[in-house]
Amino acid sequence: MSEQAPTDAAWRRLHERATEPYRKAGNFAWHFARGKLGRDPVFRGLVERGLIGEARGRVVDIGCGQGLFASLLSAMSAMQAQPGEWPASWPAAPKAARYTGIELMPKDVARAQASAGHLQPTPRFVCADMCKAELPPSDLVVILDVLHYVDLEAQEGVLRRVRVALQPGGRLLLRVGDAASRRGFAISQWVDRTVTRIRGHRVSPTWGRTLKDWMALLERLGFSVQSIPMSEGTPFANVLLVADLKEVE
Ligand SMILES: C[S@@+](CC[C@H](N)C(=O)[O-])C[C@H]1O[C@@H](n2cnc3c(N)ncnc32)[C@H](O)[C@@H]1O
Repeated sequence: MSEQAPTDAAWRRLHERATEPYRKAGNFAWHFARGKLGRDPVFRGLVERGLIGEARGRVVDIGCGQGLFASLLSAMSAMQAQPGEWPASWPAAPKAARYTGIELMPKDVARAQASAGHLQPTPRFVCADMCKAELPPSDLVVILDVLHYVDLEAQEGVLRRVRVALQPGGRLLLRVGDAASRRGFAISQWVDRTVTRIRGHRVSPTWGRTLKDWMALLERLGFSVQSIPMSEGTPFANVLLVADLKEVE
């Protein structure tokens, strides 16, 4: 048996638990949840690296889609409550996160509500444009593959408001494409354009920055930033930025 096997089994249990709520929301929601959580390295990466943090209980997920992250948080909490289920090598996650998801597309919000809306503590799903939506005080803001839907000025506007919403000790988890990596970035743009056309978006997600520019922007806004490549097993050039509020002296 390989050394990886114990956490592989735990990950499969977490995957089952987190996708189960989508069964009742129809075939699309169910298959999408299973595929996305299973194939996108970011979710397991967040869990295994302990990037969420046990103490970060107020969570805002911007561009939350059908609310997968809400379901993942709930499944993590349930597994931690069961003796022997949570691997010793996985850092603890919040036991009862209070989650707000913000999403532009009404159909996604409806699927999020139908699937994850009954979880405890009850997640809140808001149908709104991230450029205008109110951001509640939070300990963790998650923005995965969303900012490139708006232009550079609007991206900065969102990040400035995130900076204000985050409370001391707060963290932003931001996944972006690195525009300096031409091939991977072009592939993700092509996929995104195709998907958004099918989903009925009015604008194409095309606004990118290089990793260097993303990091410089976040530093300028008052974060200290660490970057982690996060597109393993995919053809994309995605990077996860772990941006912690700098402490005020
Ligand atoms: C590529 S999906 C990522 C979904 C989710 N973050 C995930 O990782 O599974 C991008 C999401 O951002 C949403 N989005 C795009 N522009 C937005 C805006 N201005 N305000 C809120 N959500 C937006 C899209 O509708 C879509 O659900």
